[in-house]
Amino acid sequence: MKSLLIRNIKLLAGTHGADVQLVRGADMKVLPSVDDAYLLVEDGIIKAFGSNTDTPERADETIDAKGGMVLPAWCDSHTHLVFAAPREKEFVDKINGLTYEQIAQRGGGILNSAKALANTSEEELFDSAWHRLMEIQSQGTGAVEIKSGYGLSYEGELKMLRVISKLKEKSKLTIKATFLGAHAFPTEYKQDHEGYLALLLNKLLPQIAYEGLADFIDAFCETGYFSVDETKRIIEAGAKYNLPAKIHVNQFNITGGVQACTTLGARSVDHLEVLDDNDIAALKNSNTMPVALPGCSMFIRIPYTPARTIIDNGLPLAIASDFNPGTCPTGNMNMILSLACINLRMLPEEAINAATINGAYAMDVADTLGSISIGKKANLIITKPVPSLAYLPYAYGSNNIERVVIS
Ligand code: NIG
Ligand code: FE
Repeated sequence: MKSLLIRNIKLLAGTHGADVQLVRGADMKVLPSVDDAYLLVEDGIIKAFGSNTDTPERADETIDAKGGMVLPAWCDSHTHLVFAAPREKEFVDKINGLTYEQIAQRGGGILNSAKALANTSEEELFDSAWHRLMEIQSQGTGAVEIKSGYGLSYEGELKMLRVISKLKEKSKLTIKATFLGAHAFPTEYKQDHEGYLALLLNKLLPQIAYEGLADFIDAFCETGYFSVDETKRIIEAGAKYNLPAKIHVNQFNITGGVQACTTLGARSVDHLEVLDDNDIAALKNSNTMPVALPGCSMFIRIPYTPARTIIDNGLPLAIASDFNPGTCPTGNMNMILSLACINLRMLPEEAINAATINGAYAMDVADTLGSISIGKKANLIITKPVPSLAYLPYAYGSNNIERVVIS
C-alpha cells in the first residue's frame, strides 16, 4: 500500500457524497467544500479528508498545498483529440467571412480532416494525440472522452479507434472511446446514405464490438448531416452492442433530434446551441445529460447554449471542450470554465460542477470520478494560492494550476 497526504489545503472543493451521480437545477450552485483541509490517498483512491487540525501524522509521500485549493480533475466528456492536422487555413477563411457551413460545402471541415487522416499512419496519429493528451492532463483534465469520426471509412475509423485504445493503455488518465462514424457522409456516399449506414452499422459496428474498441456511439444529427431517422437507427444499432449514445445535436438547427435521443435513452446530448420548449420538456423526462460546448460557440461565432434556461428549468448541465481542429482547437478546460461563466452566465460553482461531476456522468464515470469522495479515484487539481474559487474562472488565461495528481 502506498499513501499520499496533501496538507495545508485552503479549500477542498467538490466533496459531494460518493453516491451523487450528477447535480441539477438550483443544486448546481452548491459546491460542497471543506475549508483548511487535508486529503489522504491510498493506492490512488481517496481514503479520508477533513479539517487541517486532524491531519494524519505521516504518509509515504506528502504534498504541501501551501494554501492552494484542491478540486477534482476536470472530466472532459466530449473531444475529438485524435486528428491528423490542424485547420488554421479555415480559421482565416472564417475571419474573411465564410461560415462553418460554407467551408464544409467547399469540401473543407470534417471531410478535410478525413482526407488528412487517410494519409497519416497509426503511429503518427498516436504521437500527435499523445502530445495533446499530455497537454490537457497538465491543464487539469483527469478523464476524457475521445471520438473517432475523421476516418469515415472502414480502415480509417478502425485506425482512429485503435489509436484511442493505445492511449487508454499507455495513459493513467481515464479515457472513454466513442464511435462517431456518422460524423459526415463521405463524398462517395453523398447520394447513397443507405450504403454508408450499411458500412457503419453492418460492417464496422460488429468489428468494433468484437475488438472492444468503443464505449459509446455518436452521430452528428443535423441538417445536411444525419437526419433524425438515421440518428435513431444509429442509436438503436449501438444499443444492440451495449454502446450508449452521446449525440451531436441542435448545433445549428432544431430538428426534433433531442426528443429522439431522450426517448432512446441517450447518455448525453451535446451542443444544444439552439433549443426550444419541446427540447426542454424532453430533457426533463429523461436521464440524458445536456452538454454545452462554449469553446465551439466562441471559435466559430455561433450562439451559446442557453445554459440559464436549462439550469433554471431544474435540469443538470455539463460543459466540455469539444477539442477538435475545426471548431475548438483547445482542450484547455480552464478556458472552457471561464467561457461558461462569461458567456453561459454560469456561476463559478455551477461551472465547476458542470466540468466535474456532471461531466463524469456524461461519460458514465461518476462512480469513480468527478468529486472528492471517499472511494473515488484521486484525480486532482492542486491550484496555486488563489484568493477565492471565483478567481479561477475570473483570471482567464492565467495558469492557476500548481500541480495535477492522477491516481
Ligand atoms: O463538435 N459538429 C460536429 N463535429 C465537431 C466539429 C468537427 C470538425 O469541424 O472537425 C463539433 O463541433
Ligand atoms: Fe464535437
